Amino acid sequence: MKDDVLREFGWPELDGQHRSLVSALEFLSAAPRQRERDLVELRRILDEMRDHFAWEEAEMAAARYPDLAMHRSDHRRQLGNLQDLAKLVDLGHEDLDVDFFLACRDWNFRHIRSMDGNFALFVQDREAWDLQRELQAWEYSAHLATFPD
Ligand SMILES: [Fe+2]
Ligand SMILES: [Fe+2]
Repeated sequence: MKDDVLREFGWPELDGQHRSLVSALEFLSAAPRQRERDLVELRRILDEMRDHFAWEEAEMAAARYPDLAMHRSDHRRQLGNLQDLAKLVDLGHEDLDVDFFLACRDWNFRHIRSMDGNFALFVQDREAWDLQRELQAWEYSAHLATFPD
């Protein structure tokens, strides 16, 4: 797996699910276009993503992660986009919109690196997570201070 795509966190279950999902997304990105086969693959990705997100959200609930609601809404938006895409291929009888799919793929890769990274940090190093949160609040107020009243 390319380092620039997938960040691993040393959490075997999480990393393993991400590796599998990233491979599936990369496979469909590289596949020659054939509507029926694309649709089968896209549905498989949707199932895997739904399972992965449900597992992650259960882990967050168990850890009492304070950003669960925000994280979940990003999951929902990602699933919604892919569902819309699958509907176009299925009911609209259109070929896979590759640009749309690549945008969804990149969104997921960014989500793993940033939002999933924050959750992994929360679970693995609570002090570092608290510090990061403080820094973000500080940077935000410093940023706001650069605007004139
Ligand atoms: Fe994830
Ligand atoms: Fe996530």
